[in-house]
Parts: sequence; structure tokens; C-alpha cells
Amino acid sequence: MSLRDNIIYLLEKNKGKFVSGQEIAECFNVSRSAVAKSIATLKSEGYRINSVNNSGHCLDLACDILSVQGIKANLTAEAEVIVYDVIGSTNNEAKRICADGITHDVIIASNCQTDGRGRRGKSFYSPSKSGLYFSIILHPEITLSDATGITAAAAVAVSQVIAEATKKDPKIKWVNDVFIDNKKVCGILTEAVTDFETMNLQSVIVGIGINITTEDFPDEIKEIATSVGSELNRCEIVAKIFSKLKAFCDNLPDRSFMDDYRRLSLVIGRNVSFIKNGVNHTAKAENILDDGSLVVITEKGEEMLLNSGEISIKL
Ligand code: BTN
Repeated sequence: MSLRDNIIYLLEKNKGKFVSGQEIAECFNVSRSAVAKSIATLKSEGYRINSVNNSGHCLDLACDILSVQGIKANLTAEAEVIVYDVIGSTNNEAKRICADGITHDVIIASNCQTDGRGRRGKSFYSPSKSGLYFSIILHPEITLSDATGITAAAAVAVSQVIAEATKKDPKIKWVNDVFIDNKKVCGILTEAVTDFETMNLQSVIVGIGINITTEDFPDEIKEIATSVGSELNRCEIVAKIFSKLKAFCDNLPDRSFMDDYRRLSLVIGRNVSFIKNGVNHTAKAENILDDGSLVVITEKGEEMLLNSGEISIKL
């Protein structure tokens, strides 16, 4: 790592605290003037660093620059981290990386996406800096059918991390959209990479897009989309979601996160509408089973099990 990157890592690790120039110099075996020069460069790049004589340098808690070192400084599990300013789609990039047959975990994050992808062929609005767009590549040793639980695990991880960081009350709209105040703040696109010959699961790509401070949404989503609304430390959010998701995935077959999923559900107990086999239905959502399926009771009192698809909540 360059001195610049080492200093970012050290300051991110000590965010909000002063680290003396002497300490930084000793840590990386360089002169104090080399440290001062690097700090000046970082400030010119937009890093909010408070430098005080006899105290040292302190990275402002409100400084929110997405960087490899910033994410790594907050990680509790090993992962390769890649950060872009602009990319087409972090999920597409993840697929490209997976094609090389990698076996380690990877996080790919970007300030902005020009071709962000959503589920069912939709696009995902990904404007610069007001959101957080990232893909996580994991290699859980599970069957393809167990892999469906990863989407629910990701929704729980995102909701819990947002709740801890903001004191807001995120809820999960089945299957895996995260809502605040009845509007969508986060979408999750999970894709599996399988070995074509053995049909074994090679990797899972979990793409997560969170609207953090976005205000102007395109017309087609402005009635249904919202933002978290508070400034968040995006490096910390990515790292915490990764760590939580990784922990859930390590114990995926036990589905222990499903209790949290049900607790966080925006849907259970509400009236919903959906189309099944071309027929419109209105029903009450009763429960979500450990395999992720939604149990509903139709107006005729008939129980139905939904495994996938879109539902609308009758608010
Ligand atoms: C949805 O709401 O339909 C899912 C949206 C998923 C968006 C994320 S943003 C990061 C990753 N890259 C993509 O192209 N899509 C996912």
C-alpha cells in the first residue's frame, strides 16, 4: 500500500480521534514531513482532516468518502475490496470477476452506476454520491435451493445496519425490498454463479442499492421511493452489512435470521394483492416460512403459499 493509502486506513480506523504526526511517521517508517505532505494531499482530495499542533490529525466523523481503505478499516472479516467512482453495474462487474473462478470474498462498491440493474429486468436509479451501490461476492457451501435464503438474510442485514446507524425503523417488504415510512429505500438483487458442468453453486452475488440522501427521483418511482435521509458513513455501512451477511451465510441452513426477518416484515398482518396464474387476488398475509414463502389467506378463506413474485400492500 502507498503511504497515502496507509494514512487513510489509519485515520479511518481512528475516525474522530487524533493521531500524532510522529505516531503516523513511526507506524510507516517515514519522515514527519512525508506525513505532512500526504495529509495535505488528502485534504486537497476532500478528506476532512482536522490538524492541530501538539495533537496531530483527526479524520472528521462526518467525512464520507467511499474508499478501499475506509471499507477495510471497518471490516471484521477478510475480503478483497474494490471501489469505483463510476461503473455500469457493480453486479455485472462481480459476474465478470466470478468468471475468473475466484474463491475469496469480494466487495465491489461504487459512488454511482450508469446501468444499475434491478430485479425483473428493471433498472436501478443510482445517482452519484447520494446513494450506496455495492455487490458482495460470497462462496457459501450450500445447495442452490438453500441459496434462496441469502436474499432474505441480506434484507435483514441491511435493515439492522440502517436501524443501528440512524434510529429509523426499516421494514422488509417481501421478498427483499427495504422500506422506511412505507417507501422503498433499498433494493437487493441476488444472482447465483453455478459451475455449468456440475451445476454446483460456485459463488453468490448480492447486489445492494441504498438511497441515502437522494431527493430527486425519476417520475416513474418518485411516489414509491425515498431515502434514508440521514448522512451515513458509507464505508462503515458497507463493512457492517458485509460482516452481518457473512455471519448469516456461514449458518445459512439453520435459517436463524428468519425470526428477525418476520419481526422486520412490513407485510405480515396486512392485506396484500397479487397476481397468480394470471388471476388477481386480495388476501391477508399471515406468515413467512423459514424457506421464505409467504402464507396468505384469500378473501374466500383459502390458504395460499407464494414463493416468488411481486405483491402490493394495501395501505
Ligand atoms: C431491485 O430493487 O429491483 C434490486 C436493485 C438492486 C440494485 C443494486 S445496486 C448494486 C448492484 N448493482 C446493480 O446493478 N444492481 C445492484
